[in-house]
Amino acid sequence: MAPHIKISPSLLAADFAHLADSIAAVEEAGADELHFDVMDGNFVPNITIGIPVLEAIRPLTKLPIDVHMMVREPARYAQEFAAAGGDIFTMHAEACDDLEASLGDARVAGMTAGVSLKPDTPASVLQPILPLIERVLVMTVEPGFGGQSFMPEMLPKITELADMARIAGHELDIAVDGGVKVDNAGEIIDAGATTLISGTGIFNLPDGMKIGIAAIRNAGS
Ligand code: DX5
Ligand code: ZN
Repeated sequence: MAPHIKISPSLLAADFAHLADSIAAVEEAGADELHFDVMDGNFVPNITIGIPVLEAIRPLTKLPIDVHMMVREPARYAQEFAAAGGDIFTMHAEACDDLEASLGDARVAGMTAGVSLKPDTPASVLQPILPLIERVLVMTVEPGFGGQSFMPEMLPKITELADMARIAGHELDIAVDGGVKVDNAGEIIDAGATTLISGTGIFNLPDGMKIGIAAIRNAGS
């Protein structure tokens, strides 16, 4: 049976002046979780939102919140983000000196432990620690900004991760982030993705978010 495809709207593309309305709208439109991009102006060139904003939105929704940490040594903040209401803590492999310990910190804090890979980082870096990873996030743009174009050359990495997990008999949620749109969702799902993260591809949909989310979810063959 085909896996249930989860849709995770990236709040970076929401209306920050009316965040509560944006969250209610995507929840109503069928989102499965919310994606919350934290940038530190150091690991990536941009600065976004953090703990106080997460605390503010937490009471507004029951959807799980995926905290995408584009921050150096993100595990330093695992306890704070867990207390603020994060459910999934996704850390960049490139940002952690000791990735295995960082995953442990996320789990001890009570969150699902996730790892994100920048486009230049191969899937193979995760092979030795695969059993410790519940969720992987494949970046299909350089992290830092919304609205960039999807990199189709990342599709084999998605399949490689799906194969690694299948061979190891390990359940792995494979999320894809960056340039995901109705137009390319089919090839991303067919490559093996199980969660599709999309910012501008959901919040800027001309025909409305409900139709768009359903179209992304059902795009696979
Ligand atoms: C980029 C962020 C993404 C971003 C995606 O560094 O990690 O989550 O919001 O935006 P779109 O879907 O517009 O490419
Ligand atoms: Zn993200």
